[in-house]
Amino acid sequence: MERRILIIEDEERMRRLFELVLAEEGYVVKTAGDGMEGMVQWQIMQPDVVVTDLKMPRADGLEVLDFRNQQFQQVPLIILTAYGTVQSAVTAMKQGAYDYLTKPVDNEQLIEVVARAIRDTENQKGVSQIYEAQSDQMVGSSSVMKKVHEDITLIGATRMSVLITGESGTGKELVARAIHAHTKQPESPFIRVNCAAIPRDLLESELFGHIRGAFTGALNNRKGAFVLANGGTLFLDEIGDLPLELQPKILHAVEEKSVTPVGTAKPQTVDVQIIAATNHNLDEMVQSGIFRSDLYYRLNTFHFPIPPLRKRGKDLIELVDYFLDRFCREQGRESLGIDAEALNLLYSYPWPGNVRELRNVLERIVLTCKNSTVTAEMLPEKVRSQATMKKKTNVTSFDLQAQEKQLIVGALEQCGWNQSESARKLGISRNTLRYRMKKYDINRIR
Ligand SMILES: Nc1ncnc2c1ncn2[C@@H]1O[C@H](COP(=O)(O)OP(=O)(O)OP(=O)(O)O)[C@@H](O)[C@H]1O
Ligand SMILES: [Mg+2]
Repeated sequence: MERRILIIEDEERMRRLFELVLAEEGYVVKTAGDGMEGMVQWQIMQPDVVVTDLKMPRADGLEVLDFRNQQFQQVPLIILTAYGTVQSAVTAMKQGAYDYLTKPVDNEQLIEVVARAIRDTENQKGVSQIYEAQSDQMVGSSSVMKKVHEDITLIGATRMSVLITGESGTGKELVARAIHAHTKQPESPFIRVNCAAIPRDLLESELFGHIRGAFTGALNNRKGAFVLANGGTLFLDEIGDLPLELQPKILHAVEEKSVTPVGTAKPQTVDVQIIAATNHNLDEMVQSGIFRSDLYYRLNTFHFPIPPLRKRGKDLIELVDYFLDRFCREQGRESLGIDAEALNLLYSYPWPGNVRELRNVLERIVLTCKNSTVTAEMLPEKVRSQATMKKKTNVTSFDLQAQEKQLIVGALEQCGWNQSESARKLGISRNTLRYRMKKYDINRIR
């Protein structure tokens, strides 16, 4: 896949040099001789990364940054700054620039920063639903979701740490963003760190920052997520995947309100609200010693358990309406209805991927449906077959005990023989589960 880089620099020699260096790396490079030309070129070429000088005629680098903040927030902007004007580069970083390089620019450094900027944005796109999640409204008026809505308003007013748990696709990130939107400073930064997606070696510097030379490859100072989120919210997503050795450092940062960038000994004060989310069972992880209890209790000041879609009753129909409506509008087509049989099938399906799975199914249907009503045949095979199975067992099987045994084994298998999780899935206590396992002589077969 080709990556496009835009270079905005008024000095012709420099411009040519950067162009050459980056083109040799295989990038498609376009250049502009001042800020104004740069902004025009930006709209035409839609670059993946922009490198801009600060001092330029017509429009300077800060104006280019402003333009980016208005229209292309997802595009990283790298600032070039002459020796002695580092202060303006710092201002630019505060306003959202990705990084800066001081002149004379080292070719290797330029290549490294551009590559990192591309990697970072692609990581974000790849592992999260970040843009998508932002644009979904939180739908659902079941009693559990009503409670979630109420708690969001309640917590927004405090700066308490929050832990959001729930299966994959239940809307944890959506809830985190909603909490942030309900704080007193909804305009303050909301920084998300996906602890599962960032390689272990880089995570510490992602969180706490580093200074130039702190380790091989640390060619510039870099701000960590805590500092970037200062005054706002830090969303630690997939916290269950946080390596054990980093856990005390997070706890320290939260309790002492200070962080120490890698390679320095100088702590920096930070004030952030922490929202953590996971689909792991942290309780169990604490018991088995892979998650620190002190951090767990600190994060768990307020707990948002987000129930799976199959337990939210009428939310399903509201979500179906919402997504059908939304995708029809986005695709510029007449609105779609759904018939009773199809709706029943959707209700019978257990939705292991929760709202995300439902959303994907409906988006596909809107894309492919030629009629004005969604019918059973249009649903994916998995949804139809699951429901047929349910029907069959209802009619032919009268052996309650055999059924119960089958259900329990099924749940255990689904949960990798994890008893607490299986008990939760079955809606019974762990003791009851143990008792039944004994009664039916259920053992793990290896
Ligand atoms: N109540 C809801 N109303 C509308 N859309 C929702 C709702 N809940 C979730 N979604 C949508 O479903 C998708 C998944 O939500 P989200 O990314 O917040 O889930 P998650 O719990 O963080 O999942 P994972 O554990 O996989 O990270 C997103 O596109 C989101 O916008
Ligand atoms: Mg998520």
